[in-house]
Amino acid sequence: MLVDCHTHLDRYPERVVRAMLRRAARAGVSRVVVAGFDVRSSRRAVWLAERHGALAAAVGLHPLAVRGPVAGRGYAALKRLATAPRVVAWSELGLDYRSGPATRQEQRAAFERQLLLARECGLAAIVHAVDADDDVLAVLRDTETFSSELGGAATIDDQPEDVLEARRNFMETDPPRHTKFRRIFAADFTPRAVRRYEDWLRDIVRDVLDRTLPLGEFEAVHEIAAPIPIRVLAQILGLEEEHLPRLVELGDRLLVDTEPDYVGELAFRGERPEDRYLPFGSPWAEELCALGRQYYDRRREEPTDDVLSLIANAELDGCPLSGRDLDNTFAILVVAGNETTRQSIAAGLLAFARHPDQWDLLRGEPELVPSAVEEVLRYSHPVWHFRRTATRDTEIRDVPIAAGDKVVVWFGAANRDPDAFPDPHRFDIRRAPNEHATFGRTGPHFCLGAHLARFELTVLFEELVPRVERIELAGEPKRLRSNFTNGLKQLPIRVTLAG
Ligand code: HEM
Repeated sequence: MLVDCHTHLDRYPERVVRAMLRRAARAGVSRVVVAGFDVRSSRRAVWLAERHGALAAAVGLHPLAVRGPVAGRGYAALKRLATAPRVVAWSELGLDYRSGPATRQEQRAAFERQLLLARECGLAAIVHAVDADDDVLAVLRDTETFSSELGGAATIDDQPEDVLEARRNFMETDPPRHTKFRRIFAADFTPRAVRRYEDWLRDIVRDVLDRTLPLGEFEAVHEIAAPIPIRVLAQILGLEEEHLPRLVELGDRLLVDTEPDYVGELAFRGERPEDRYLPFGSPWAEELCALGRQYYDRRREEPTDDVLSLIANAELDGCPLSGRDLDNTFAILVVAGNETTRQSIAAGLLAFARHPDQWDLLRGEPELVPSAVEEVLRYSHPVWHFRRTATRDTEIRDVPIAAGDKVVVWFGAANRDPDAFPDPHRFDIRRAPNEHATFGRTGPHFCLGAHLARFELTVLFEELVPRVERIELAGEPKRLRSNFTNGLKQLPIRVTLAG
């Protein structure tokens, strides 16, 4: 059980946390983890843990909070977490805490972040949570100090080098290899290349909307958000229509392996030893990669002008790509280009359903679509975090970081940094400037598909605005159980068509 005492934005007053602890005690929960992030909340977490004795353990994650006398106690608690059998979500116990000043969406967001850290920091050495906008940028830019290759970029927990090596895709490499690898297909994802896709992209979007909107009420993740990105990806990579539904299924299972609706019981068990050398450590990776190999084989015999042809026939330092490189590249492209964009579409629809004034504004001023897209991206941040490992002793805002420490950049927190985004929790489609960190924003790993994802959202809203007068929730949205993807699995909505 984990109690969120995260006050990065001062959302949880003490009485809320205490009420949570009391409820947990009444429900017979034997241990509660109280987590803190910034110095203040970390210290308070330790204090609360002490007050509640055996029931609570504190995780004082902020390095400044774990240095002084308070810190020691927080740190010991952090280490004890390593023996935790499982950290349980409030919602799983039917204890979803629903009052207090934060919206439920914000509570869950903060909660998931804590859940991840509580679970994974129990096994970790030191994790520094970087969540201010300019710190995030500094870490992403400096690849020499903050490596994506050392220790990997997509998970916080430690993996042995042979496992990392087996699963490594180009995103988990550093320059110069990363630069050469990305160059193989980067030209197909530039803003100019993406604009060339407009005609067929608009056809895909219109086709999806023509089929869905007349229903009036529907589940938007499956009906609108899911079909668009995979079809777009299919055009660029060169995938056949008949494979798409299965590719979506497999991609979901690889990326969101903690969601029982996707992977069943495995969601709670974690990775199986027999899968550890497979991409994403997933039992479904082999099927996905086998499909990729079929494409590569055909593209070698008969190259076409799609991205899979480029990859199948590419050379790196004079050698063709290895089988592992080919498999891992196929997996990352299918997974990264699909679920993320789906989630930004779904989150955008949800944001407009919850903020009808913003939808009215957009309908009145359709020229705001590009700015609305940026706000949807800032607000939704479909990826919670990526990670780096420090290659040398350094510091971030005077906080010492030792060589080998893990540094986790929190895109959602950066996007809601009040220093960079005034009134950060407000969904405001006129927001300017809006230099969010949703795609990473800077550095060589800046999202390859950022322009594509932006364009998909732009065309979608351009097509939706004249057709739909009102978007409303038709039921409770259901969130994915994931600490990596910030997303929805169900979004029932009702639309009123424009007359
Ligand atoms: C809203 C949708 C998307 C979001 C939020 C998103 C987010 C991100 C982020 C945060 C990174 C940085 C990773 C790091 O710094 O380690 C990234 C990298 C990447 N993204 Fe996206 N992405 C999206 C859409 C796409 C699409 C449509 C593609 C299409 C293929 C794609 C492919 C990639 C790839 C290949 C990388 C690795 C780039 C590299 O390491 O050079 N993404 N993405």
